[in-house]
Amino acid sequence: MTAAKTTREEFAERLLKGSVKKSYAPVVDIDWDAPLDPDKFFLPPQVVTLYGTPQWEAMSRREQIELSRQELVNILSAGIWFENILNQALLRDLMHKNPTAATTHYALTELGDETRHMVMFGKTIARIGGTPVRPRLFHRIVINSLPFVFRGDVLWGAALVGEEIFDALQRQILDDPDLQPIVSRLMRIHVTEEARHIQFARDGLRKSVPTMPRHRRFVLANLHGVGGPFYRMLFTLPIQYRRAGLDGRRMRAAARANPHFRASCVSSFASLAAFFDDVGLMGRIGRSLWRRAGFL
Ligand SMILES: [Fe+2]
Ligand SMILES: [Fe+2]
Repeated sequence: MTAAKTTREEFAERLLKGSVKKSYAPVVDIDWDAPLDPDKFFLPPQVVTLYGTPQWEAMSRREQIELSRQELVNILSAGIWFENILNQALLRDLMHKNPTAATTHYALTELGDETRHMVMFGKTIARIGGTPVRPRLFHRIVINSLPFVFRGDVLWGAALVGEEIFDALQRQILDDPDLQPIVSRLMRIHVTEEARHIQFARDGLRKSVPTMPRHRRFVLANLHGVGGPFYRMLFTLPIQYRRAGLDGRRMRAAARANPHFRASCVSSFASLAAFFDDVGLMGRIGRSLWRRAGFL
């Protein structure tokens, strides 16, 4: 990559050109009326948290498909509130920025992408007959206040933790022939647009880390570690098992002990972990948090 040689402005201009060439309007780019195939999965079986466990083997194909549907609803629901806080943070940040700069224009473009993604995720949950997973009021208040913390470089770090894990997961998902076509299409659209968001956030960190004060760098290099336990909790929420007619707590324990699930967590974090290592943002505490949560 020539990222290090280009200025932040040039980099933003390049992403803006890419956005003009390849962006989607999911409202028309997804065939919302296409029938669902009753025999197809909503997530590839191998990324379902219970895949490969005795509990999974004991389930009928119908039950496995239902669990994949509930896990997809859980992931899409989290995607919506994640993109919500990212957009809030981006918009708040822009109040302090130059409205004529390409970086401002790209941030606004990204905001627009996320707005369409939230529509796409919400429509998909409705189309597949799911009920959004909603955090409790107290959690919603905490989540909603995160944009006040996600500022400057912390915003880029948080954006990467939020985007890259899902992105890696989606890349495993989109090529599966056993998958509902609507899900493959959604993943394809999302991966294409997120690739630019990830580049923008990575470029931001790559340029700011070398001149960052030591204490700030220390905080940033370890703070992202909270992503580990957070994702572990999110991916194994009891509600997704209960909705599939299973014992929520017992299945959560089974998933967390599942070597297939662990392998899928490790592969979803691999590329981001390599990036953090590369730019000098993998602190000891951060690494240990990811490792203990099963992502390293
Ligand atoms: Fe998105
Ligand atoms: Fe994004």
